[in-house]
Amino acid sequence: MVKDSVCFNIFRFNPDDDKEPHFQKYEVPLNKIDLTVLEGLYYIQQRLDDSLAFRSSCRAAVCGSCAMHINGKHRLACNTLISKLESATITIQPLAHMPIIKDLLVDMKSFWENYEYIKPYLITGKTLPTTGEHAQDQDERARIDNLIDCILCACCHSSCPVTATNEKYFGPMAFLNIDRFVSDTRDGAKEERLAIVNDEHGVWRCHSVFNCQEVCPKDLNPSGSIAHLKMEIVKNVLRQKA
Ligand code: FES
Repeated sequence: MVKDSVCFNIFRFNPDDDKEPHFQKYEVPLNKIDLTVLEGLYYIQQRLDDSLAFRSSCRAAVCGSCAMHINGKHRLACNTLISKLESATITIQPLAHMPIIKDLLVDMKSFWENYEYIKPYLITGKTLPTTGEHAQDQDERARIDNLIDCILCACCHSSCPVTATNEKYFGPMAFLNIDRFVSDTRDGAKEERLAIVNDEHGVWRCHSVFNCQEVCPKDLNPSGSIAHLKMEIVKNVLRQKA
């Protein structure tokens, strides 16, 4: 049942003015309507406190920009219903392992650098002509079905205990997106991509905690991608020795 109101307990920090972060509480009326956490944040920003900073765009779980730590778990604010949290207080913190710009806004520079580093585009190389259509049959296309659905929200990155302690670790997002191209029959840079993840900060650093898999709002499986990449690295080594 939808309650009359809910308390938002929000992490606040403005590095220009504050010495320390603090939490601030706001009462958001629900009027028997089931809002999303993002709608609650907009209510606060538009009616109670226009200094509150957070990021969002599509409001439809597509752009990945509204990821934050909500009641103990990294989630998308736009597809988290307040009623589903079953709590009188909603505690919200920014994504982890990234510098805070203000309140719930983080600087995702290192995350995007990792994404850029893995070359997230088809490299056709010598396997295919550089122009024209590169057809796949249904089985080949099925291999990348889930892998192309990553929305780069960074929930996995922020939940990973290895990214928490090793800033050079590529992280689950990078591995899933490398697997997306390693598994794509049109890509001609498999060896180059496997060399990236076979690095000292690559897949072998994963502790198999599975947080990434648990928090992914698109039900993707970065842990499965890491296992697949490890297998492909070993097969590659055996091939070279044969
Ligand atoms: S606003 Fe785009 S995913 Fe939530």
